[in-house]
Amino acid sequence: MTAALPPNSTIGIVGGGQLGRMSALAAARLGYRCHVLTPEPDSPATQVAAGATIGSHDDPAVLREFAAHVDVVTFEFENVSAEGLGLLASLKPVRPSPDVLRISQDRALEKTFLNQAGIATAPWRLVETLDDLHAAVAALGLPAILKTTRLGYDGKGQRRVASAHDLAAAFAALAPKPLILEGLVDFACEVSVVAARGHDGSIASFDAVENRHRDHILDLTLAPARIPESAAAQARQIAHTIVQEIDLVGLLAVEMFIDRDGAVLVNELAPRPHNSGHWTIDACPASQFELHIRAVAGLPLPQALRHSDAVMKNLVGPAETALWPQILAAPGLIPHLYGKAEARAGRKMGHVTRLFPRGALPGDFAVAAALGPLADPPPDQ
Ligand SMILES: Nc1ncnc2c1ncn2[C@@H]1O[C@H](COP(=O)(O)OP(=O)(O)O)[C@@H](O)[C@H]1O
Ligand SMILES: [Mg+2]
Repeated sequence: MTAALPPNSTIGIVGGGQLGRMSALAAARLGYRCHVLTPEPDSPATQVAAGATIGSHDDPAVLREFAAHVDVVTFEFENVSAEGLGLLASLKPVRPSPDVLRISQDRALEKTFLNQAGIATAPWRLVETLDDLHAAVAALGLPAILKTTRLGYDGKGQRRVASAHDLAAAFAALAPKPLILEGLVDFACEVSVVAARGHDGSIASFDAVENRHRDHILDLTLAPARIPESAAAQARQIAHTIVQEIDLVGLLAVEMFIDRDGAVLVNELAPRPHNSGHWTIDACPASQFELHIRAVAGLPLPQALRHSDAVMKNLVGPAETALWPQILAAPGLIPHLYGKAEARAGRKMGHVTRLFPRGALPGDFAVAAALGPLADPPPDQ
């Protein structure tokens, strides 16, 4: 498929979460329908989609049924098996390609790809056995972070190891194997760049943004990142190199560390819309979700312009979500809720965005104050 998908075509989205929901809303605005594949009948994405196939993304019969309803396939969730991806690709155009997903599903493949493309990462070693782990520690030193190569998210599937006594327990606790050991980066800040690449090879990327985590879950995104211009330009250039080298058609987020010397190291890739790009819905003429849909549908990519600076705060778990009435009443907070029935601890329920004139993103103190009822949210019990 190289021609643009005509209006009223159906875009298939694998995954039913909030990223699928916001992609489907952007698709609707461009005159497309979305059909979602998810095991949950009442999911954030199915609530706003024209149709859904309910079932497992590992079941070939379910994948065939899904493919029969759609003109093109994309993802809001990247952990479809290699067999499943192969099956989908044999039935319909799949964007991004199965090769892109295969690399970004696996931290070892991902880091190998990055290093071969000349892109710096934390130093790392593949760890299949406890002996490998001892050798990796001898090479990289401690403290370090041991991670599963697959299926990790929000800090799950990783352990920080500080002493040689922790090694056996950390190795035993993490699954599935294999693992990687990464040297700990003493970062000044974490940033990300969201970039889209069209079928014609054109690239659009948003400015680098700064990400702050709380309990390993993204809490705040500040747009733009308050880093030296040279580091911001380098971060964006790295994202462009990645989407070109990986031959992306779609949208991809690059998570990076800026170390104490201002060097940029890539942490991980996500070949889909990313939580750190939610601010683009309110602060940009075309959001990350619109760029995602445009790339997947073969439409021209607009520039990823930003008309405002922004702070995005996630609503995670019951205590923050309980502030919803106060959020709705607070001047200047732009509220987003994802339609999830139950606010469990650690669950992303929605987010809010606060806009500032370009160039007027305030310092930390004023950022907190600008979040009104969310300035100092209560922790979950
Ligand atoms: N090598 C590292 N050095 C320092 N901090 C790290 C390193 N790897 C991960 N972290 C911290 O842990 C967070 C989660 O790790 P990440 O690899 O992004 O996994 P995921 O987002 O899939 O849970 C990062 O955002 C960062 O704050
Ligand atoms: Mg991450």
